[in-house]
Amino acid sequence: MCCAPGLGLLFALAVMAGAARADTAALVASQCMACHGDGGNSVVPMFPRLAGQQAQYVAKQLRDFLTGKRKNEVMAPSLAQFKDADVDGLAAYYAAQKRTPITPGNDKLLAAGKALYDDGNTQSGVPACVGCHQPEGLGNDRYPGLAGQHPGYAATQLQQFKSGARNNDRAKVMRAVAARMSDDEIAAVVEFLASLP
Ligand code: HEC
Ligand code: HEC
Repeated sequence: MCCAPGLGLLFALAVMAGAARADTAALVASQCMACHGDGGNSVVPMFPRLAGQQAQYVAKQLRDFLTGKRKNEVMAPSLAQFKDADVDGLAAYYAAQKRTPITPGNDKLLAAGKALYDDGNTQSGVPACVGCHQPEGLGNDRYPGLAGQHPGYAATQLQQFKSGARNNDRAKVMRAVAARMSDDEIAAVVEFLASLP
């Protein structure tokens, strides 16, 4: 008798947690999968791959979209389909998915892309990407993973940081990096990122 309320509460919490997970999966299936792919492994270059992405980063981007700090007209209609309370569940969902490899389009650029990623460009002052985005492009709590990202999407983001069209990076950190990058460096580094498993 003594413990029945405790067990009842635990049971209720377990049911609620289960319900939250089911809601997230249903939300993803009905509102996100068409563009971001099954398990976040988008097959279309303009739609970012989200499988295995850092949860903190996904949550920040979703909140930035919801508050208008980051804008994109293709993603915009989806913003009415979820709310702030869904964000952490969506972020946890994508972080837990397994990334499937993609084939980079241009093998000839891989060596130049890797050199920029590991060492930066001391002449023009591009910092080494690895310092923030981590070995193998895996990211961490503070920096997004870049491994296995579509080259087309990643190149668009770098160009948008360069022009300032994307300006939701704290302390202008990525705008300062991209401003120093040449178009050839962008083309090379995104092929290297796509090649990372
Ligand atoms: C109609 C297609 C479409 C749908 C549906 C869609 N998105 Fe997106 N999403 C995009 C595009 C395009 C971008 C890239 C925006 C840009 O270039 O800035 C994006 C960007 C994102 C990003 C940022 C990724 C990154 O690497 O910075 C996240 C996170 C995201 N979407 C999550 C979602 C979630 C969660 C849903 C469902 C609630 C959803 N999207 C529905 C098209 C879509
Ligand atoms: C000082 C740390 C730092 C360095 C160095 C850095 N980045 Fe970033 N990068 C960030 C942060 C922080 C973000 C996320 C910004 C935000 O919150 O939207 C980011 C975002 C990105 C994105 C967008 C990811 C997405 O899914 O939309 C790309 C692509 C990227 N960086 C590429 C690079 C490349 C290539 C280099 C090296 C030339 C580099 N970064 C160097 C901190 C850094």
